[in-house]
Amino acid sequence: MTSPRLLEPFTLRGATARNRVWLAPMCQYRATDGLPNDWHLVHLGARAHGGFGLIVAEATAVVPHGRITPQDVGLWDDAQVAAWERVLAPVHDAGALAAVQLAHAGRKASTYRPWAAERGSVPVAEGGWPTLAPSSVAFPGYGVPDEMTPAQVGDVVQQFADAAGRAHRAGFDAVEVHAAHGYLLHQFLSPLTNHRTDGYGGSPEARARLLREVVAAVRAAWPDDKPLLVRVSATDWADGGLEVDDVAAVAASLAPLGVDLVDVSSGGNVPAAYATGPGYQVPFARRVREVSGLPVSAVGMITDGAQAEQVLVDGAADVVMIGRPALRDPMWPLRAAHELGVPVAAEGGAPWPASYLRGTWG
Ligand SMILES: Cc1cc2nc3c(=O)[nH]c(=O)nc-3n(C[C@H](O)[C@H](O)[C@H](O)COP(=O)(O)O)c2cc1C
Repeated sequence: MTSPRLLEPFTLRGATARNRVWLAPMCQYRATDGLPNDWHLVHLGARAHGGFGLIVAEATAVVPHGRITPQDVGLWDDAQVAAWERVLAPVHDAGALAAVQLAHAGRKASTYRPWAAERGSVPVAEGGWPTLAPSSVAFPGYGVPDEMTPAQVGDVVQQFADAAGRAHRAGFDAVEVHAAHGYLLHQFLSPLTNHRTDGYGGSPEARARLLREVVAAVRAAWPDDKPLLVRVSATDWADGGLEVDDVAAVAASLAPLGVDLVDVSSGGNVPAAYATGPGYQVPFARRVREVSGLPVSAVGMITDGAQAEQVLVDGAADVVMIGRPALRDPMWPLRAAHELGVPVAAEGGAPWPASYLRGTWG
């Protein structure tokens, strides 16, 4: 194979990614005061040089109390704008685009990072903070959140919009609104976590209202020529929770608000057992694409180039995102291209950095 779909450019508004293999957002849990540092620069820069067309930087909190862990990055102040600007330089030098995933963790904020000895919520005395959520219902094992007042719900809209403005100043090419994995916007969407009786709870439309307001405000604060992505969980994998057609309908309602691509993941809102396997979320991406008419990305256990190529050839998704395989191998796209028989950059093929060309033979 000489010209796989994986390596075809993909354009959204004024931004053209050089290919359709994108780095999935992955928390690194190693920032201080929300500032990305040398770790993030090396981590994202290496993967940009590894051939990814677009890098989605990890969940980035729009306010300090929206961090999943005290070590999360943020975009709530101008010092963070400067720090991100520095991190993005090698990403852009490598020819990749950069997106930031704007996030608020809601009831899943203020937790220990995964490799800590402790589990669950970080106490206030140890640097944690009280959490906010649509309803005062705890994620099992975590602290009980306070139900957000209507004013606090309104604040969230402005916080996302302000962070989007900072993302533009930092030089990001795209923004992704994080409405998946049981974080605040997903908590509002799902009947399992949203028991409100005001205009933000009850019917499916009311539960989706905060997401729609956030998307509209981010779109207004974000340049017209830059794309806006939304990550959703297509199912709660739980009785009485969201199902793929509920989420596809929400995605369709976002299209007129200026969303350019839906990044389709699943789960995270409540503890649930579900069967994973190769490409297990791809059917959800296909369904969201069919119903919403929007471009979509597929993610989840897409581990080799031939499999990723098939997702695109089948028309299930427009783009694939690679997560854990890129932690094992920062050069995942270039290695996949090599295995698919794609020639190197000098011959019009895969974007190998000149210094690494010897890695293609020998
Ligand atoms: C270490 C780690 C951190 C993650 N952090 C985020 C995150 O910040 N935002 C998000 O939406 N998903 C996050 N995810 C989920 C990934 O983006 C991806 O959807 C998931 O790992 C499935 O894809 P994969 O099988 O290619 O890893 C994370 C996953 C891992 C392994």
